[in-house]
Amino acid sequence: MFKFPKDFFWGAATSAHQVEGNNHNDWSEWEKENAPRLSKESGGKYPPENYISGRACDHYNRFREDFDIAKSLGHNAHRFSIEWSRVEPAEGKFDFKEIEHYREVIKALRERGMEPFVTLWHWTIPIWMRDKGGVTSREFPRYFVRFASLMAHDLPNVKFWMTLNEPTSVIANSYLRGVWSPQKKNIFSVFRVYKILANAHREAYRVIHAANPDAKVGFGNIMVFTEPYSNSFLDKFASNFRNYWANEYFLKLTGSTHDYFALQYYFHFKIAFPQKIKNENKWASDMNWEIYPEGIYHLLKRLGKYKKPIYITENGVADAKDIHRERFIKEHLEWILKAIAEGVDVRGYFYWSLLDNFEWDKGFWPRFGLVEVDYKTMERKIRKSAKFLSTVLSNVE
Ligand code: BGC
Repeated sequence: MFKFPKDFFWGAATSAHQVEGNNHNDWSEWEKENAPRLSKESGGKYPPENYISGRACDHYNRFREDFDIAKSLGHNAHRFSIEWSRVEPAEGKFDFKEIEHYREVIKALRERGMEPFVTLWHWTIPIWMRDKGGVTSREFPRYFVRFASLMAHDLPNVKFWMTLNEPTSVIANSYLRGVWSPQKKNIFSVFRVYKILANAHREAYRVIHAANPDAKVGFGNIMVFTEPYSNSFLDKFASNFRNYWANEYFLKLTGSTHDYFALQYYFHFKIAFPQKIKNENKWASDMNWEIYPEGIYHLLKRLGKYKKPIYITENGVADAKDIHRERFIKEHLEWILKAIAEGVDVRGYFYWSLLDNFEWDKGFWPRFGLVEVDYKTMERKIRKSAKFLSTVLSNVE
């Protein structure tokens, strides 16, 4: 028996580009250009098609069936994102059929008793915005905010809005390491994009509230639990440095423009000077990401100091054989419960992800889903671990 607070939100998360299929945006173009290279770099292990989102999970057409599954698992909330490139395929030209589509998505959730958590930017950019420089363009906030405002006006029955998903993941992977679309490694862009995205969030926060005073607005914040590899001064410095850039700086730039915190937790890094990650990886996922449930507790305790509600809007594991997921979920929930017992105001848990989906530059091979997807037939199969989570939810006090 897990003692979670009453009215706790339980669900799973997805993002448009990773599940919908047939999106046309900066990523879909990047995939076409880079699939042959990525396949080659895998030593031929994965064919180029692995790296092309294409039909993805065809969730755009099958969202009702997918929500039926979520409902059957006892979920009372669901997080998804709106694909900006669908709603505004050309600058200033809005496609009202697509807005209607998202209205239907929200209606389908409500009909099944699930609270929608809606993300406005889960990394993909319309081609016209990409051509202006994407998130490195000073114009980005203005265009993004216009889109955010339109969505908040047109979808008035959405209460929980998430402006941006994990800004620091994009900053790190696209501009610091240069491995994600648009692969523009440049240290000046790193600082620039921090500022631009923080600005976009702050302004979006304001316009969403203007459209809907009852809205609750936050952003998907990936946080890394950092520890120094040793007790040396240099390792401590290196760990604090990482903590600042990964966890603190964006929060600082966005000030008080959060009605809640949306914590997304995947990583624990033991850091040696200057920035070497020296994890033991005693327990790891198919992507060789260390599984370290205790980290979520420490991050929750830290966020708890701000005295705002916290929703865990992503936490999940790539595990094709479903051999780790049950224990992964169980141990994370135990650490979350400990934080709650110590007074941290946690109000929801969204597993990443409802379905297996398109995992960015890794393509389709990592399997994060509570539900397995056969990409040839599009058949869905509920995994054993999904049923475990569902038993937990039905037994909460
Ligand atoms: C992202 C998802 C991604 C997941 C697993 C999160 O950082 O928001 O889009 O699929 O992690 O890598």
